[in-house]
Amino acid sequence: MSEQAANTQYTGRQIRERVDHLPRVPIAHLPTALEEMPRLREALGPNAPRLLVKREDQTGLALGGNKVRHLEFRLGDIQRKGADTLIVTNVAQSNHARLHTALAARFGMTTYILKIPSPKDDPVNGNLLLDHIMGAEIVECSSDDQETVDRELDELVERLEAEGRSVYIVPREPFSKIAGTCGYTLTALELMDQLDELAVSPSHIFMAAGTSSAGLALAGKALGLPYRVHPISVKQPRAELEEHICTVANKAAELLELETRLTPEDIDVHDEFVGAGYGIATDAGMEAMRMAGRLEGLILDPVYTAKALSALISQIRDGSITRDQPAIFVHTGGLPITFAYNDEIMREMRS
Ligand SMILES: Cc1ncc(COP(=O)(O)O)c(C=O)c1O
Repeated sequence: MSEQAANTQYTGRQIRERVDHLPRVPIAHLPTALEEMPRLREALGPNAPRLLVKREDQTGLALGGNKVRHLEFRLGDIQRKGADTLIVTNVAQSNHARLHTALAARFGMTTYILKIPSPKDDPVNGNLLLDHIMGAEIVECSSDDQETVDRELDELVERLEAEGRSVYIVPREPFSKIAGTCGYTLTALELMDQLDELAVSPSHIFMAAGTSSAGLALAGKALGLPYRVHPISVKQPRAELEEHICTVANKAAELLELETRLTPEDIDVHDEFVGAGYGIATDAGMEAMRMAGRLEGLILDPVYTAKALSALISQIRDGSITRDQPAIFVHTGGLPITFAYNDEIMREMRS
């Protein structure tokens, strides 16, 4: 592709037309609100910029979250393939598993969760509790190592197919891997309209890293928007995550027939807020959770959104983000996780 083609800019309408070609079932409550966070701004001192939060936690299905937008497109693919059974592989506190379980319930399918062992298996709480309520079939995986997960997933698929089920294996379907990225190109358009109305031009967008951040960054580049997306790692090292985000963004771009391509220079991935590892709360995340709760009435979870907001707070405090650079925090949901971390959270709230 020529340099010229790679720099082609698109209008919102052109992007929407391309996305509209994908099969999609409307589920999410949209548009989600874009709210000011004036008390958090004030608490961060005179150098803090205008702060806004995009309420992707309020998308409607089974306590919401960013993934409801992904599900609209994934369900289009599922229905096209005529599947009646979904399989996901994930840990007990997976938002992904909870929302697929809700989707299956609502559209008359069944979700099988191949549940990978994790420290939050016991007692049943948070997302896992909701999975039980909504009728997920939970199959315990014997180990968290990838080879075992793959083998036990093969066995599960074989068993369900032998029973005559038509199975959609969420982690293996090619479109499934970029459904979130396609969905989030529309979030960029939605944001653009909301920001126009508020007459704000944001410099930075902070959010937990993944396929959604890839969609916002891709559409931002395609539209020539001035913001930088900061995907905050909750697990992977920076280089690995940059590669993942660019790969899914560029696959989505190909599917949508956009000439735009994302490179690592287009995004500001941070891996310094992970702490001791995935699912382990950090002090900075707990402080962010406390501030969001007490200053804005916003509930964050310790695994994703608290770490993402702690990154924004840290960058304001160290002067990397200045007063004249409005920033948006994308609240991607994850509320049920909070209930599985009651001990860790109460230690922080009592301190
Ligand atoms: C609350 C929350 N935020 C962000 C992410 C990041 O991933 P993605 O953008 O692919 O949904 C996840 C993934 O599980 C999540 O549960």
